[in-house]
Amino acid sequence: MQNCRVSGKPLHLINDFGDQPLGNGFIESKNIDKEYFYNMRTGFCEESKMFQLIEQPEPSKMFHENYAFFSSTSNYMKEHFKNFYSYVSNSGYLSKNPFIVELGCNDGILIKNFKENDYSHLGIEPSKNVAKVAKDTGINILEKFFDIDCSNLVKNEYGSADAILAANVICHIPDILELAEGVKNLLKPSGVMVFEEPYLGDVIKKTSYDQIYDEHVFLFSAISVQHLFNKVGMELIDLIPQTTHGGSMRYVLANKNQYEIKRSVREIIKKELKQGLDKLETFERFNQNVILSKNKLLKLLKELKKNGKKVVGYAATSKSTTILNYCGINNDLIEYIYDTTPLKIGKLTPGSHIPLRDHKFFKNDMPEYAVLFAWNHADEIIEKEKLFSSNGGKWIFFVPSVKIL
Ligand code: TYD
Repeated sequence: MQNCRVSGKPLHLINDFGDQPLGNGFIESKNIDKEYFYNMRTGFCEESKMFQLIEQPEPSKMFHENYAFFSSTSNYMKEHFKNFYSYVSNSGYLSKNPFIVELGCNDGILIKNFKENDYSHLGIEPSKNVAKVAKDTGINILEKFFDIDCSNLVKNEYGSADAILAANVICHIPDILELAEGVKNLLKPSGVMVFEEPYLGDVIKKTSYDQIYDEHVFLFSAISVQHLFNKVGMELIDLIPQTTHGGSMRYVLANKNQYEIKRSVREIIKKELKQGLDKLETFERFNQNVILSKNKLLKLLKELKKNGKKVVGYAATSKSTTILNYCGINNDLIEYIYDTTPLKIGKLTPGSHIPLRDHKFFKNDMPEYAVLFAWNHADEIIEKEKLFSSNGGKWIFFVPSVKIL
């Protein structure tokens, strides 16, 4: 069994989600006999306080030339990343002609704001297809995984960074200690690391266990991030909660004793201690809640099926892969799932093999129920699909609890 990736100590087993395919492994029907599965379990380390996957597929299996997630699918997210840009550019942490690096910049949704405002910048992105979208808009891109060698290469060719940014990326990197060393190595002494990720505190509070899938090798708390970066001589200087991904946290880190530590750091860590994010019992309770949530969703879908109702899914998120496979939901219970991503349409959901349809047809189809898998984009989607509700269609939610809206 894998030991903690930070402390090297044995992990306590928390959840066992059984055999799971890749969260973004949308598949053509002709390939289903070659589908890849792994045992998805989570563990907690009492020393580093890091909640993490026990086994994880090889990163090259997940991030490649056919990576199915394009960041710019949501208007809300485009706006969010404009605000992220404004936060960094007005933070007061940058030098006069700053050099900005983004790790895992995907299709450029964040870094394009720096490019458009003439910042010296570099996006590092290993998935070729999404990197191409960014490159085609004139963003400087290095197609690589970020590690120590990569940090040296960037330092030698471009110089040290004023800011290293990442959004929904750091939790993808299994060798997290090397990541922290690479960040420390590439930053100027006065530089800052600003990254945001789905927040463990929200996952525990809302039982949003769909945030657990192959790409999310870690779900961070401020306590665990502090512990990790302390190991390389860095510290948290600010924490800013975000509403994205159903609850995220923006972490701001710098070399020790460079900047004043904002009150938010003390306050949020105090809250986390109260929530028990440092305690094994909290995670054991979380597992019980996950089991209850699974049973409730299955019961509801089976009842609707028995009553002859037509149920579809809306938005084939990576998160939905965990729900569908863990609950054993296939196209018997959910006929198909509507989505906007061209690369997914016409394929099947990973493992559960529910057909994917173009969201354009949702309006004509008028099912009676739709499970909203992108519950984190609920406001945007419910507004966009007003006609569904006004024609009597009902949304099914499973976070923070299973309910019909
Ligand atoms: P997101 O929650 O960002 O996904 P993930 O769990 O993969 O991180 O949602 C992205 C997916 O949701 C993507 O497949 C596109 C789909 N989607 C829609 O189909 N319609 C929408 O209006 C939105 C916002 C997303």
